[in-house]
Amino acid sequence: MKKDLMFLLCGTLAAGSALADNYVISTPNTSLVITANKKQKAYIQYYGSRISKDDINSLFDSRSVMWQDTYPTFGLHSSGEKALYVTHSDGTMSTDLCVQEVRQYKESNADLTEITLNDTVYPFTVKQYFKAYNGTDVISTWTEIINSGRKPVTLYKYVSGVIPVPRAENWMTHFNGGWGSEEQINEEYIGNNMKVIRNTDGVRNAHTSNPSLMITLNGKPQENTGSVIGATLAWSGNFKLKTSAGPNYLTLFAGIDEENAHYILDGGKSLVTPELILTYSNDGKGGVSRAIHKWARKYGVHNGEKPRDILLNSWEGVYFKVNQKGMAQMMEDIASLGGELFVMDDGWFGNKYPRNNGSTSLGDWEVCREKLPEGIDGLTAAAKKNHIKFGIWIEPEMSDVQSELYEKHPDWVLSQKNRQLITGRGNSQVILDLSNPAVQDFVYGAVDRLMTNNPEIAYIKWDANAGIMNYGSPYLPKNKQSHIYVEYHKGLTKTLQRIREKYPDLVIQACGAGGGRASYGVLPYYDEFWTSDNTDALQRIYIQWGTSMFYPAITMAAHVSANRNHQTGRTVPLKYRFDVAMSGRLGMEIQLRDMSDSDKEYARRAISAYKEVRDVVQLGDLYRLVSPYDNKGMASLMYTTENKDRAVVFVYKMTHFSGQSFARLHLDGVDVSKKYRIKDLTPRDPKRPASFDGKVISGAVLKAAGLDINSALNGEYASLALELTEVK
Ligand code: DGJ
Repeated sequence: MKKDLMFLLCGTLAAGSALADNYVISTPNTSLVITANKKQKAYIQYYGSRISKDDINSLFDSRSVMWQDTYPTFGLHSSGEKALYVTHSDGTMSTDLCVQEVRQYKESNADLTEITLNDTVYPFTVKQYFKAYNGTDVISTWTEIINSGRKPVTLYKYVSGVIPVPRAENWMTHFNGGWGSEEQINEEYIGNNMKVIRNTDGVRNAHTSNPSLMITLNGKPQENTGSVIGATLAWSGNFKLKTSAGPNYLTLFAGIDEENAHYILDGGKSLVTPELILTYSNDGKGGVSRAIHKWARKYGVHNGEKPRDILLNSWEGVYFKVNQKGMAQMMEDIASLGGELFVMDDGWFGNKYPRNNGSTSLGDWEVCREKLPEGIDGLTAAAKKNHIKFGIWIEPEMSDVQSELYEKHPDWVLSQKNRQLITGRGNSQVILDLSNPAVQDFVYGAVDRLMTNNPEIAYIKWDANAGIMNYGSPYLPKNKQSHIYVEYHKGLTKTLQRIREKYPDLVIQACGAGGGRASYGVLPYYDEFWTSDNTDALQRIYIQWGTSMFYPAITMAAHVSANRNHQTGRTVPLKYRFDVAMSGRLGMEIQLRDMSDSDKEYARRAISAYKEVRDVVQLGDLYRLVSPYDNKGMASLMYTTENKDRAVVFVYKMTHFSGQSFARLHLDGVDVSKKYRIKDLTPRDPKRPASFDGKVISGAVLKAAGLDINSALNGEYASLALELTEVK
């Protein structure tokens, strides 16, 4: 080694804690311990149940610390998984980060720990953040990567954070699917290999896999027991969640997927990576879900603590056949059932190219005068007349090659100079280049114009029916084409922030051809998401079950649709369809005109029942009781208020048989010291409710002995919705 370079390596701490600067970052029930001595590497030592500063020595003496570099970099110690790959301006491919400073401070809603890590040689810094959100068990982490030099550096990998998990029998729970089958649960043993969950759609990152997972510390994932870490990446674009197993611990690396996304940081510039949301629970998957849901309602979802309206969406009722008379009729119908909002879906716009199917008009956000001669005013007037609110569908990130927008601005679309465009839906759909500020203005303007001209609009359904194609930006320079995956989402976020500044009370639903946008990357700006285009009640139980692992009921739009179901052709009773949709944000998506009077009467009662328990479902704590994935022939879940004085229980029969019975249903969410009056919320015949109706049963019995639900589940597709109210 040359003499003058001798002291330019970052030090590594030997085992032992006496001289170490240790930081305990805590929430009410969890702690993360970091060792960060100046001029040394920083390490994550522990993440688990809450401990105090006084326990630090014991932690080291027990030798259970993990010594996981907080942000391992490539190039010196090159083997093993890394968080950061950088090529510096002189071609050097290594980075060596050393603690410069640790700051701890309070923000209005959280306690922050900020570790500044400087490269030992290059003017290059990583600020690493750990944020403990007040009143929740969530700690998040992310980084700011700063090039303080004058020349550009290239980032080839730049994860948000790493988290070590002690080796034992570790299992992973993750979520995969596709259109119509989102969020299917997969549970697998994490052996000595690597496991990778990633998404490369480019626009929507939750269809084929969700940026969320759980890892157990001690055996197979259980609903109510076992130690589990939950992690979800608050990013709307491509992601990679990767576990890499060592002998002592395995490490989760979570961040933006780096493939085809290397990022050039010019001199003086920085890149902030997305927040990785973490929680830890000793109460199994249920504990993780409740902790994440609580955080989400408070901090992760726009207006997450404000109960949502009951709506009718026009899509499955009329598809593209939108007109004034039909919309007015639908508004009258939903209002007569007690609904509170009507949402006109696709098909209302375009004049040169009226939108009659999925192959034209995206971008031409002008009312189609032929279909709606009275304009949006005519529709809001009809809503007003029926005392309900009005909402509208748009797909503002997209265009069609057959549209006035594309004819005027072909350069606003992602495309490649020397290649013909490939197209999506309707052989026509193309994607706007959101890295371009002019396009961001256009997207903002589309919403702003609608809202300025029609301030009565109370709700927007924001759809996105294509992933990135034609990976090329006419706006970005030649050497920064690989920024598209990142800049698209930075542009989207900026646009959404602008919209939110001006329209904080507008309800916006995130839709991505169904559940493609169930992700905390977008939820700070959206009130909810469309869970799936599959509205079949039976399949919805599986989809909503998986979705509920990380997303609270208030975000999960669930609609009662037609019989036969349009996606599966299945025939399911109306009560069952309601009982399934009522476990999320209830809505309807059906031509009400075609419903029988007795079904309408039933729907009216079910809607009114939902209003009674809406706050418990949408704001309550979720207890999953019997999983549909366990093949017990049924599924059941319940919500309780925080002090457990009220609860709602849903039970769904999944298979029909004779000569077999269901096990007793143990209501894990009740308070065993309380007594509850039980009410059958949605009996098909109000004169013949389930036998529990009106009974007062102790929490101790509901939990320990359980309910025998067999007599209440007669026939195929039987279901139950019970309300529990404390009796003092
Ligand atoms: C896909 C969405 O998921 C549907 O709900 C509907 O809005 C259609 N797009 C409209 O084109």
